[in-house]
Amino acid sequence: MRVLFVGDVVASPGRKAVVKLVPDIIREKNIDYVIANAENVSHGRGVTQDDLAEMQEAGVNYFTSGDHLFWQRGTENIIDTLPIIRPANYPKRVPGTGHKLLTVGNKGTLLLINLIGRTFLNERLDDPFTKADEILSQYESSNPDYIIVDFHAESSSEKHALGFYLDGRVNAVVGSHTHVPTCDARVFPNGTLYVSDIGMTGNIDSVLGVKKEIILELYLTGLNQRFEWEYSGRNAFRSVILDLNQSKIERLDLEI
Ligand SMILES: [Fe+2]
Ligand SMILES: [Fe+2]
Repeated sequence: MRVLFVGDVVASPGRKAVVKLVPDIIREKNIDYVIANAENVSHGRGVTQDDLAEMQEAGVNYFTSGDHLFWQRGTENIIDTLPIIRPANYPKRVPGTGHKLLTVGNKGTLLLINLIGRTFLNERLDDPFTKADEILSQYESSNPDYIIVDFHAESSSEKHALGFYLDGRVNAVVGSHTHVPTCDARVFPNGTLYVSDIGMTGNIDSVLGVKKEIILELYLTGLNQRFEWEYSGRNAFRSVILDLNQSKIERLDLEI
């Protein structure tokens, strides 16, 4: 079972990269299932049904998300109809679900879990470690063939800690949110595949997708700025390929 996991897809430059590259990658790398983090897919924050559909047509099967998921107006009303999960450790009253048991053709079942970190991000949320335990015990009887966790977090320490906590209990823990790819893809001692952050699929002549002039102004003045997303320049495609049977993880980073 070979899974392509694409990092935070940001606005139309990110979507364009997905549409252009994913069909060939599926063919050339023998990919069985494609997952993408979609928290920034529409106008840089949140998701729309149409934008997810555009990426599904290119071959993305399912989506994870993060802190920006509910940015577009009305998402909370349609979230249950979309092929996306939200971080599971939001309070119960938040719409949507944080885990999903998926069927991958004749390859078996894949439990996809989305969690969000608290350190430097949102201290009001539930403990992601305990939430992972709860979800895994909930699925014990259905015994999924494969389990992948997208840990959407700021702190590399928190990400490593969760990786070790789940080592041997899930097939992979992949990080998202920082928009910066890390070169620490590796296999943990008990077989879990790990990378701290897949990185951003989107415009790289920018600061994490936002026009660099705006972010410079933010740092030079200390005053909050209205974000605008960068649409001109080079786009990067950041991903990892997870071979869940052979316990191998490799980065796939491209530029268009
Ligand atoms: Fe993001
Ligand atoms: Fe995020």
